[in-house]
Amino acid sequence: MYGETVSMAQQLFQTRNDIIIMTAPGSGALDSGVSSLFSPGDRVAIANNGFFAIRMINAMKAYGLDVLSVENTWGEASDAGKMRVAVDGNPTLAGIVVIANDTGTGVVNPVEEYASLAREKDLPIFVDAVSAMGGYDLPVDKWSLDVVCTSSNKALETAPGLGLISVSERAWDLIGRKVQNNGHRGWYYDLSRWKEAIDGSPEHPYPTTQASNMIVSLHASLKRIVEQETIQGHWNRYTWARDVFRAGIRNLGFRPVAADAVASPTVTTFKIRDDMTDNLELRDYLLEEHGVLVALGMGSFGKNVLRAGHMGKAGTREYLVATLMGIEDFLRKVKGQDIPHGTGLIGL
Ligand SMILES: Cc1ncc(COP(=O)(O)O)c(C=O)c1O
Repeated sequence: MYGETVSMAQQLFQTRNDIIIMTAPGSGALDSGVSSLFSPGDRVAIANNGFFAIRMINAMKAYGLDVLSVENTWGEASDAGKMRVAVDGNPTLAGIVVIANDTGTGVVNPVEEYASLAREKDLPIFVDAVSAMGGYDLPVDKWSLDVVCTSSNKALETAPGLGLISVSERAWDLIGRKVQNNGHRGWYYDLSRWKEAIDGSPEHPYPTTQASNMIVSLHASLKRIVEQETIQGHWNRYTWARDVFRAGIRNLGFRPVAADAVASPTVTTFKIRDDMTDNLELRDYLLEEHGVLVALGMGSFGKNVLRAGHMGKAGTREYLVATLMGIEDFLRKVKGQDIPHGTGLIGL
């Protein structure tokens, strides 16, 4: 079952690379990947345009990396041209880090452009794909992505508890070469331990006890996605849910944060209306009156932005209708707006 789970994950990641499945949240997978690929003192550049880039910077600093933050605007896609300037100005750079989809801002970053820059400059590229992988086309082998991390509970639609990491041959080579001075990786999170297990004991290709209950759950979810819904169908559903939601909230007088071209298929961020004081009034109303949970904005988007996910059940007609009708209800009952029923369902 473990082998089948890895194989279905490889289909989703579109890779023939090794995929490690470890008991960890997404942050554990990121910690493991970044600390294994890089060593203390390595200068590593990161495209910074959102909450999870800042989180990643803190993790990288915790492992003693010399972080070069390439600043971009929140709510917009990051600019690979700025990264090129940074790379050209820093000849000792050890790698590039990018957040594929920042869940804080609802923006998709141009990973392919960063990947081709990395290949041109012969640098490894590390991708936080926690809220991206499985949600839309992010082909690991085609774009030559070296280390890519996700978690079980986003677009893989399972309970939280597993971190998944794909590791390219080039990355294994770098990890192997740097291993000597890498006490900072710890033991469990050192990907070298996982490689030893994969290569050395095919019947037990992981160094510790697996969370077998979670593997069974992930297996069932991946089987549903790969065999029933199909990977393309899974992506299409998220894109459809995003478009229905964005059309609906626009018709209800809200403005999505991200421009259409870079809008995330897994999460939509939108600004509160001018007649609202903060994001709490709508969040609380939806939760209390309709049992629907939309998330608050993160970081500097804190008070004025709300976030609606499109992953799992949230990306179904049933949940979209409940959410959009709930927002309509809020506008009628709390804000006294006289709007026709179904105004939010225009995209359906
Ligand atoms: C882009 C991104 N990176 C990292 C994380 C952290 O994942 P976890 O909370 O599973 O540690 C998240 C969680 O939402 C995320 O969206």
